[in-house]
Amino acid sequence: MDWAVSRLHAADLHYGHGTDSAIDEAGALVFHALGIPHEAAPEAYRWAATGSGRRRVMALVQRRIRERVPSAYLTGRTWFAGLEIEVTPAVLIPRSPIAELIEAGFEPWRGGLPVESVLEIGTGSGCIAVACAAWLPGVRVDAVDLSHAALEVAARNLRRHGLQGRVRLVQSDVYGGVAGKRYDIVVSNPPYVPSAEMDGLPPEYADEPALALEAGPTGLDVVERILAGASRHLRPGGLLVVEVGSLREAVERRWRSLPLTWLQFQRGGGDVMLVRAEDCAHVG
Ligand SMILES: C[S@@+](CC[C@H](N)C(=O)[O-])C[C@H]1O[C@@H](n2cnc3c(N)ncnc32)[C@H](O)[C@@H]1O
Repeated sequence: MDWAVSRLHAADLHYGHGTDSAIDEAGALVFHALGIPHEAAPEAYRWAATGSGRRRVMALVQRRIRERVPSAYLTGRTWFAGLEIEVTPAVLIPRSPIAELIEAGFEPWRGGLPVESVLEIGTGSGCIAVACAAWLPGVRVDAVDLSHAALEVAARNLRRHGLQGRVRLVQSDVYGGVAGKRYDIVVSNPPYVPSAEMDGLPPEYADEPALALEAGPTGLDVVERILAGASRHLRPGGLLVVEVGSLREAVERRWRSLPLTWLQFQRGGGDVMLVRAEDCAHVG
């Protein structure tokens, strides 16, 4: 671990794909290379690695540094809302702060009303849909994505957690595949990087699908469509929850008269807005 942390530190990498420091990243790589479950920490920190184990650790750490691949793509997995999620370069690496809101059952915003149905737009690995089904008893989730390759990964994650019966995957352009359906919650972590900013992203983002990141000149192309259709897809009393990265000011300028609530998260993360169904009817 010491060796891995010092090598990662010296390499001046970007963290932000589910880990936020060299120590976290070293933990993910070392435990994976040695086949040690994360629950074995902290005792495992005193165990000694054998020759072949050390070589596996060194090879992974060197790939992380040389190729600037985020560790989750090297290990093929990460954790979201306490659940293990398979990832491949067909999907964005899960890291949305929306995990915390799901763990809280969308409270206090639901005011004690049960959540029976959820629509997730842009499911990627399926992490948000899986977390909703795992944390909200009895909920039914429709999870849509434009990317067929992403939906294949999401299907494997549903099977991994035995949730195929409660989550339906739909290949769909925003609301296209769920016309006429209404939900208690519409939730999305859509692409929101303005096109001109794509080239300036750290190299770690190059392995993620551009479709998961880029959203037109302002970054709001997909957010616009989600907001525009929300009132047709929310039940009375429903909630729209959308992550917008660092575009809070742009959103506030674009929808000046819309009552928006910006959520606070204990574990940090990008800007996430919440809009009530009755307010979505006035989206201009
Ligand atoms: C930022 S990723 C979020 C993935 C996952 N929900 C998460 O939080 O990790 C955005 C996802 O939206 C999908 N997407 C992009 N444009 C879309 C569209 N027009 N309709 C549906 N899904 C879209 C991408 O394929 C990608 O999987």
